[in-house]
Amino acid sequence: MKVAVIGTGYVGLTVGACFAETGHEVICVDIDDRKIKGLKRGKLPIYEPGLGDLVERNTREKRLSFGTDTGDAIEWADVVFSAVGTPPDKDHRADVTAIKDVARQFGAHLNGYKIFVNKSTVPVGTGAVCRELIATEVRKRNAQHEFDVISNPEFLREGVAVADSLKPDRIVIGATSDRAVQVMKKLYLPIIEKGSLFFVTDSASAEIIKYASNALLATKISFMNEIAQLCERVGADITAVERGVGLDNRIGRRFLHAGIGFGGSCFPKDVDALAQTGRDNGYEFRIVRAVQEVNERQKVHLYEKLVQHIPAIDGSVVAVWGLAFKPKTDDMREAPSIGIIQKLLKAGARVQVFDPAAMDVAKKHYFPKIRYAKNPMEAVVGADALLLLTDWDEFRGVDFVEVKKRMRGTLIGDGRNIWQPEEVRAAGLVYFSIGRP
Ligand SMILES: NC(=O)c1ccc[n+]([C@@H]2O[C@H](COP(=O)([O-])OP(=O)(O)OC[C@H]3O[C@@H](n4cnc5c(N)ncnc54)[C@H](O)[C@@H]3O)[C@@H](O)[C@H]2O)c1
Repeated sequence: MKVAVIGTGYVGLTVGACFAETGHEVICVDIDDRKIKGLKRGKLPIYEPGLGDLVERNTREKRLSFGTDTGDAIEWADVVFSAVGTPPDKDHRADVTAIKDVARQFGAHLNGYKIFVNKSTVPVGTGAVCRELIATEVRKRNAQHEFDVISNPEFLREGVAVADSLKPDRIVIGATSDRAVQVMKKLYLPIIEKGSLFFVTDSASAEIIKYASNALLATKISFMNEIAQLCERVGADITAVERGVGLDNRIGRRFLHAGIGFGGSCFPKDVDALAQTGRDNGYEFRIVRAVQEVNERQKVHLYEKLVQHIPAIDGSVVAVWGLAFKPKTDDMREAPSIGIIQKLLKAGARVQVFDPAAMDVAKKHYFPKIRYAKNPMEAVVGADALLLLTDWDEFRGVDFVEVKKRMRGTLIGDGRNIWQPEEVRAAGLVYFSIGRP
């Protein structure tokens, strides 16, 4: 099948490469000329484990190509995915301007039956809006081509995006036309045959499924962060509580880890957008609002704990391990590290950081002037405190005796609860974490 993916970001590139990997012919299109030029030379615009190999192989085998001409791609393809960004607008609603652009172009270039598939995370009703925009463009040309609009939200997680795309838990299809459902089934058949569930519903429900899923996962995180606050006040250990709670099959262990709050390009904006959609439809979400409030408070909690240990941050040197909003990605959008580093800088600290993947992004978009170290140990040299903000695996097996030798002070703030308090303290360091004695 011929597939065009419009928007070659974290989602579009992964989804496009995975469709190529399952035998389809795919073109990934983007308005960012530099990104496309780089991809044509084999340069990936993002860090995502396993994606480089997939892109290289499928490009070499001529199933995957890249371009900037959306119209051409639409005319060529049988199925057109829109995977453009939906960033928050000034009122925290999802900005669907780019999707509307793609829908108009789809209508302007439709030259036979095709399907417009919305992969981006969009507020309920966007599918219907796209249908109208496409129909208007088709009418303007006095053309008479049939088309369908489908909602097919994406659930991949950055860091494991390839595995998630090739073997998702479920493929959600929001559609009214059986013809379109059959095409989508054929497109996804190689993935369905490996055990992923193909779930068909109406378009509005599919759009809501994406927001409800992200908001529920964010709720689990904020809930455990509140329990961590209680643990700190009574001397209990949140990691034991997480385990004991997660062992209940009805609850499950995932997304129960207390820490410095959730970030990333999805949870914060999707939780905000869901709250706004509620308001726009006359409903005030209470749980969702609390999830946001708890998260905002949690994002500064580690900094506040640091201040309890060093009341005068001015002039201190703070090492930071981890910038990305989670491990195995270079994505820093809404990462808790941003707010913490801003606070440190504002208070007069010198900040020296290490992250295995996100330092280029940090330097370019957030902190051009802080010190970037070549490795974790270089970052701690002369530091009064070390803050762990992203739980990359390489930070887990650290030798704290070596850390102590290089530091000027003794403070270790573990924002992800990855270290054993006794082990860190045995090295003569002062350890604090989230929700643990
Ligand atoms: N990143 C994730 O983990 C993830 C997971 C699930 C769903 N989503 C959703 O998928 C969508 C895309 O997210 P992303 O993280 O890939 O975003 P991204 O910012 O990485 O990529 C979006 C791409 O679209 C391009 N673009 C914008 N307007 C365009 C246009 N008119 N024509 C062609 N290209 C255009 C941009 O240049 C950019 O390369 C969002 O709605 C997001 O909420 C993201």
